[in-house]
Amino acid sequence: MPFTGTDAQIEEEQTHFANVISTFQQYAPYALYANNRRRKDFHTLPLADRELLESLGYKERINAVDKAIMTNADFLNLVIANPEIFGHDLDEDEEPHLDEHEGEASRQAMHRHDHPQAGLHNSLQGPSHSHSQSHSHESHSQSHGPHDHPHGAKKKRYKPSEHDMDKLRSTLKQLVRDWSVEGKSERDLCYEPMKEALLQHFSDIPAEERRNFRVLVPGAGLGRLAWDVANLGFACQGNEFSHYMLLASFYMLNRTAQVNQHTIFPYVHSFSNNPNNDALLRPIAIPDVLPSSLPDGSDFSLVAGDFEEIYGSLDEDPSEPHSGQWDAVLTCFFIDTAKNIVNYLRIIHRILAPGGVWVNLGPLLWHWEGNTSNDPSVELTLEEVKTLARKIGFEISNERTIDTTYTNNAQSMLGYVYHAAFWTATKII
Ligand SMILES: C[S@@+](CC[C@H](N)C(=O)[O-])C[C@H]1O[C@@H](n2cnc3c(N)ncnc32)[C@H](O)[C@@H]1O
Repeated sequence: MPFTGTDAQIEEEQTHFANVISTFQQYAPYALYANNRRRKDFHTLPLADRELLESLGYKERINAVDKAIMTNADFLNLVIANPEIFGHDLDEDEEPHLDEHEGEASRQAMHRHDHPQAGLHNSLQGPSHSHSQSHSHESHSQSHGPHDHPHGAKKKRYKPSEHDMDKLRSTLKQLVRDWSVEGKSERDLCYEPMKEALLQHFSDIPAEERRNFRVLVPGAGLGRLAWDVANLGFACQGNEFSHYMLLASFYMLNRTAQVNQHTIFPYVHSFSNNPNNDALLRPIAIPDVLPSSLPDGSDFSLVAGDFEEIYGSLDEDPSEPHSGQWDAVLTCFFIDTAKNIVNYLRIIHRILAPGGVWVNLGPLLWHWEGNTSNDPSVELTLEEVKTLARKIGFEISNERTIDTTYTNNAQSMLGYVYHAAFWTATKII
């Protein structure tokens, strides 16, 4: 579906999308440059220190990280090989934005490993899931956007910020969570209880009739929970607005043909808190299942766009109404992305059919707290969120706390554990 909105919104959307693509494209020089800093620092040390460090394999590790970065870059270039599927025209007449020294670092690294940067492939077919308007609160405010250029000169490409690159590195870790064997323990803690609650709620429905029940997964990330729900036989729609997530999930869902087709190295970007080389350099094979293996007749879609705009509009598209049309809503690490949690809960309540179920798991890391863009942010306690849900018309049951990590490097010496709140809520009024 083409992007809609005012001309200014469409232009902003396209610029943002182009900047995300640019971030993917410039991952290699950016990451190699960061790694090359270690090499340069090494050469400033006294000879005796260098010899000792070399005997530990420190230099070899730096070289191995370069190689892993190039493997990541090959994968990321495949993900963005065909951005037209997202309905945007990209300006091809751009040069990568490389600072003099970044360019040198990446040229050296590419030469060292005799590993040319993967080119863009244009052999992909059209999309197989639907896309509508998309808005994101990812950084729109960079000052390095495309600018006018004199006739005949190539314009400089967007210069990704550290924040952009952080989102890209997080996308690699999110691939572990959703699409690798290593991510299974995290998925077992987060997605399994949610699927169990869903099956419990519909336990009197025969499996072959589940396709008549519509489940929505807002903030679907890389799509695994939504895919799992479709695999159980329900009609399932994921919704997501981050271009990083949408590009990566589209590739995983529609362009992978084999289990373990790709290898990525998601943990090579920080040398801190690693007990050994494996913690930093272990390869992760993706995907652990074949995304195209959903049973025949499955009803599975991913819709791109802002949850509140798409599902919260009171002026509904009659061909795609939402009010009272969903039998279940599953929110995993999602409700704290709200600026106004009242609106999120009202929408979830309104789109559910009477007796419909909302299953929630997650912390309350209010995403908009302390924002610098003057956006409003309401930050409730867990008790307040549950009281609010009751006031809006839910009956909450099955409450518990689930201790879980989120895209954690399982081998790191540092790990965050969320005491995530779980509940099943039924729409009673
Ligand atoms: C913390 S992640 C959780 C992803 C996934 N549910 C999981 O458990 O791995 C929250 C996701 O919600 C998405 N998101 C945040 N606000 C959104 C909105 N208003 N509409 C759609 N997606 C949104 C973010 O882009 C992000 O992918």
